[in-house]
Amino acid sequence: MIGKLNHVAIAVPDLERAATTYREILGAQVSEPHPLPEQGVTVVFVELSNTRVELLEPLGEASPIARYLERNPEGGIHHVCYEVEDIIAARDRLAAAGMRILGNGEPKIGAHGKPVLFLHPKDLFGTLVELEEA
Ligand code: CO
Repeated sequence: MIGKLNHVAIAVPDLERAATTYREILGAQVSEPHPLPEQGVTVVFVELSNTRVELLEPLGEASPIARYLERNPEGGIHHVCYEVEDIIAARDRLAAAGMRILGNGEPKIGAHGKPVLFLHPKDLFGTLVELEEA
C-alpha cells in the first residue's frame, strides 16, 4: 500500500543554522524558508535525488514540534512521510487494523498542498508516520 518515501522531517532549534549546514557542509540543494503558520512550522526543503529532507522549526505558540524540541533540544527526526495513492482508502484500512489516526481522522492539506494524515507513533514502533496522497 505505501509507496515512495516522500520525506524525512527533522525538527531543528535553529533553522538558519541547519539550512546552512546542509547547504554548505553537506553540499545539498536547500530551499529558502517557507513559513506555514497553519501548521505551526517554518520549513526548509533539502532536495536529494531520491527523496527530500524537511528541516522544521517551530512557528507560533501552538507549534506541534515545540514539545518535541523541549525533549530533544538538539533536534531530531520528527516523522517520516510515505506516499499513498488514496488517502481515504489507506486511512480506512489502517483504522480497521486498529491503528490510531491523529486529530479528527480527516486528512488535512500538508506542506505540499496535498492531503495528509498522521498515525500514532505507538502503533508504528515509536515513529510518527505521515501519509501523503501522491
Ligand atoms: Co511531513
